[in-house]
Amino acid sequence: MNGSAATEAVPSIDSHTVLYGVIGDPIRHSKSPVMMNRAFRETGVNAVYAAFQVTADRLAAFAEGARAMGMGGFNVTIPHKTAIMAYLDEIDPTAEAAGAVNTVVRRDERLIGYNTDGPGYVRSLKEEAGAEISGRRVVVLGAGGAARGILHALARENPAHIAIVNRTFARAEELARSLPSGAAEAIGPDDLREVCADADIVINTTSAGMSPNTDELPLGIDATWMKPGAVASDIVYNPLRTRFLAEAERAGCRTHSGLGMFIYQGAYAFEYWTGRPAPVKAMREAVLRALGG
Ligand code: ATR
Repeated sequence: MNGSAATEAVPSIDSHTVLYGVIGDPIRHSKSPVMMNRAFRETGVNAVYAAFQVTADRLAAFAEGARAMGMGGFNVTIPHKTAIMAYLDEIDPTAEAAGAVNTVVRRDERLIGYNTDGPGYVRSLKEEAGAEISGRRVVVLGAGGAARGILHALARENPAHIAIVNRTFARAEELARSLPSGAAEAIGPDDLREVCADADIVINTTSAGMSPNTDELPLGIDATWMKPGAVASDIVYNPLRTRFLAEAERAGCRTHSGLGMFIYQGAYAFEYWTGRPAPVKAMREAVLRALGG
């Protein structure tokens, strides 16, 4: 019966229930409501999380509405992660560095912006792939918004070297310059094979390989260029096993899927909002079930 599914998706709501949500355009594909409502239910937090389709011209109105309604906070997704910053009262330094906000916390009348994407990715890489980052050599494929957040978080873990490789070299150079001096180096796509040969971790932050382009390999990477035992990581989670990860596994690499970044960005948001540890296992189970896994 569909009644039971509805009961399961929403904790019991009363006059103390705190509202959270995610804004984006489009938004109906989002798995955040399923994941976050499961987290609230699992921990007994009296809160509910919904998805709001908000267009760019209504961001100011949404922020004002969130203050007026006393929302607990909200997540921000594509295409609003940078534009929302203009309507917040305070931006955390990690979000400032990443140039994007994906999590907003309301404290009294103030809206405070954080970025949990990069830190979420790094926590997932360490906890799920068991990857040591300190002292290791890392290759990052791509130099867009996702790469920026991840690179700022990676740089704080003291890797021995980070190479940024991008189709458009100038963007890789610009991103390397925005990081703390000496943290990362821009490398041309022609030298990808060489940097992969001594990399401990190779991370795809581009959309190459994402459904429906599942045959695509980011920058034409060949997983046999990597050392067996190195970690191949992809932020794409649709499909869960990208061609890059499948080929890396065959080449004897350890693999780490993009689902982890999504789950842990939500885990950090939950922790900012509630001050409690996130029920990561239950959150993952909810997302996998929603993805049909
Ligand atoms: P996001 O915020 O998701 O990172 P973005 O800022 O548009 O999105 O950046 C997309 C990144 O993926 C860029 O590094 C882009 O390379 P260019 O800077 O050369 O455009 C990269 N990218 C997207 N599709 C790609 C593909 N098919 N092959 C290689 N790189 C790709």
